Amino acid sequence: MPESLRSSRIIGTGHYVPTRVLTNFDLEKMVDTTDEWIVTRTGIRERRIAAENEACSDLSLAACKEAVAMAGLDPKDIDGIIIGTISGDMQFPATAAFVQDRLGAINAAALDLSAACSGFIYAVNMAHAMIVSGQMERVLVVGAEVLTKFVDWSDRSTCVLFGDAAGAALLEACPRGEGILATHMKSDGALAELLCLPGGGSRHPLTPNTFADRTRFIKMKGDGVFKWAVRAMVDATHTVLEQAGYSLSDVAVVIPHQANIRIIDAVAERLEIPRERVVVNLDRYGNTSSATIPVAYDEVVRAKKLKPGDLVLFTGFGGGFTWGSVLLKHAISL
Ligand code: UT7
Repeated sequence: MPESLRSSRIIGTGHYVPTRVLTNFDLEKMVDTTDEWIVTRTGIRERRIAAENEACSDLSLAACKEAVAMAGLDPKDIDGIIIGTISGDMQFPATAAFVQDRLGAINAAALDLSAACSGFIYAVNMAHAMIVSGQMERVLVVGAEVLTKFVDWSDRSTCVLFGDAAGAALLEACPRGEGILATHMKSDGALAELLCLPGGGSRHPLTPNTFADRTRFIKMKGDGVFKWAVRAMVDATHTVLEQAGYSLSDVAVVIPHQANIRIIDAVAERLEIPRERVVVNLDRYGNTSSATIPVAYDEVVRAKKLKPGDLVLFTGFGGGFTWGSVLLKHAISL
């Protein structure tokens, strides 16, 4: 079968974070923790918390509007909206359906994708594949989470980690060799219990018990996740570089999932990449799950730290387990 001559490139980015800031010092008053513990063990100093009336589609819509404006497109020209999220507005319909309506993307299909913190990387993979197949020309990809509504605020081992945010990227068809050069996704469902939210699905429907036993909140075995995270991101990074025939010295910036500064440091050390080429913003936002990578990319883009043709590498991991990477040629000129 002949190889497709098509690829896809990112032509617009955007992000949104809620206005309310929760610092480590605020958390000291809520659970038995300290700013010193959180900073040294995670690198996080503060995170954003969605307002009571703010849902995943509100954050997503704000990020999408910025991405569409940067691309200079009419929302009617968008063929699909894919949101990587595990904290959508409702069990159904998809959060993407609310965004499709409010954005006025009247010609777009809309779906959510569940890959936890790998949600954005998985969604970029899907959007890219749809464009390469010729099925779509432009797809809006979002990573958005409001996980602070799903954390157990009495569990100090998880509640200090997460924050709320949304990031968006608009992908458009382009010739092969430009834009996205390689993608990789993997999973290992045997590790599902290391990081999950057991209550509220069809296995453990919401009952008074799911409230009493606290299974309606995120559960995590942090040390197990930590070890896998490092291995997964290093492997996925090597895989996309090999696929595309590049080495790390060719890459302008690596944007890793922002879960823990010690994970990022360990990945940078194993990849032997200078720290100044690794993007970090988790001190300001904490772990925003599927939103970390698109938020960080948008910040780098808007700070004009990249020029067209620069190689950018996304790598991430999350519950499932899921993990993956994307290698692309930066295509935005501001
Ligand atoms: O997007 C993917 C999501 N998750 C992750 O990426 C998480 C990956 N894992 C991690 O980031 C780290 O494992 C954590 C930050 C979650 C924990 O760090 P750690 O260095 O692995 O600490 P630990 O779990 O081994 O706990 C060490 C101690 C324990 O006390 P004892 O048993 O030694 O007395 C904990 O109870 O630290 C205690 N502890 C805390 N102390 C103060 C746990 N959480 C806190 C806290 N403040 N917030």
